[in-house]
Amino acid sequence: MTVGFPVEEVGEGRARILVPTLDESCGEPEQRLRSMAPVFYNPVMKPNRDTAVLVLRAHQKDLGRGVDACEPMAGSGVRGIRLALEVDEVERVVMGDLSPSAVKLGELNAERNGVSGRVSVRLLDANLLLSLHCYPGGRFDYVDVDPYGSPAPFIDTAIRSVNNHGVLALTATDMAPLCGVSPGACMRKYGGKPLAGEFCHETALRLLTGALVRQAAVHERAATPLFSYYSDHYIRVYSRLDKGKRRADGLLAQMGYLKYCPRCLHRMASKDNKAESCESCGSETKVAGPLWLGEQADPVYLSRMLEDSEALDYLVGAKAVALIRTVRDEHGYPPWFYDIDAVCSQLGVRSMATEEALTRISKAGYRVARTHYGDRAIKTDASIDELKKVFGG
Ligand SMILES: C[S@@+](CC[C@H](N)C(=O)[O-])C[C@H]1O[C@@H](n2cnc3c(N)ncnc32)[C@H](O)[C@@H]1O
Ligand SMILES: [Zn+2]
Repeated sequence: MTVGFPVEEVGEGRARILVPTLDESCGEPEQRLRSMAPVFYNPVMKPNRDTAVLVLRAHQKDLGRGVDACEPMAGSGVRGIRLALEVDEVERVVMGDLSPSAVKLGELNAERNGVSGRVSVRLLDANLLLSLHCYPGGRFDYVDVDPYGSPAPFIDTAIRSVNNHGVLALTATDMAPLCGVSPGACMRKYGGKPLAGEFCHETALRLLTGALVRQAAVHERAATPLFSYYSDHYIRVYSRLDKGKRRADGLLAQMGYLKYCPRCLHRMASKDNKAESCESCGSETKVAGPLWLGEQADPVYLSRMLEDSEALDYLVGAKAVALIRTVRDEHGYPPWFYDIDAVCSQLGVRSMATEEALTRISKAGYRVARTHYGDRAIKTDASIDELKKVFGG
């Protein structure tokens, strides 16, 4: 089988995948060449796919039986093929794409990796493919929506195509709306106001999680976050979908707003969206939301994923593993982080090494942790006024 354009083989996880050869002679930057290629493959997203493998492995172990998965926007097919190769007892992976070249390449890659009996590729719109599986017996244990830009147009059908207790994974790369550069687009896609600045990547994650929790509740299902993170140019949320009005209501009760004072950096969670005077300095606060205020991950689930990752030699030292460890240790903190440099600059003091900041905060009696949002981003139960005393003293 030929695909009609030049390809080369790359290795990722246990898969060997044919991907389009990029014509570097035209001088365009690599990212642009990738977006122009006949089929999409981005090696930068390998850690994203590594986490998918680890989540589905954990889920399969929970279920203790054969599982199936759907990847309705599959590109080269690398993700679905890796799931079939690297997760035990994967009986069926249904992949789809709107591009005939992607479907052809996905089929060829499935065949070359010896999984074509379990992996099929359909030339279908993602919403149509997911809709075809929205009935008892047709649903999947795991659905992975990995689009260009926003997953919002696919959230409803994705929820409906996941089994009870199944896992839904969403990637969003539309960081401009989610981080407050285009608030109108954020409101349209995610039904909430974003917050530009210091901790915008965490509010982005909470806006996407909130949109999922609300849409799942429409179907009387609870979308509990298992693992969520920000990385490079995207955010990612893995949630378990359980049937039940009460459970759905329990999650809706964890929706709310974040209020932020750009003048003194005070921040607080709130159940209302009134822009009020900052309780620390009296300036007007900015409001983000409605968004998810609850935990972004399940630390027990993440510990099991970490333990399991040791069985996969090719994941030793992988970026995905370090990421999971850091996200696990962020559990139990308020729904925001502080940027050490922003706090020091506000105070007019010289900035300090992250390690020194952590030591000072914990010596002062507060809980504190590094975060995956950046080297200088920390979570603590200290308020901004308490933090300023610790940094200023
Ligand atoms: C970001 S790429 C997917 C990358 C892939 N999941 C991976 O891990 O390498 C998005 C893919 O979605 C496909 N696509 C875009 N709109 C679609 C739609 N409405 N339905 C199905 N596929 C679509 C594109 O052709 C492209 O291959
Ligand atoms: Zn203030």
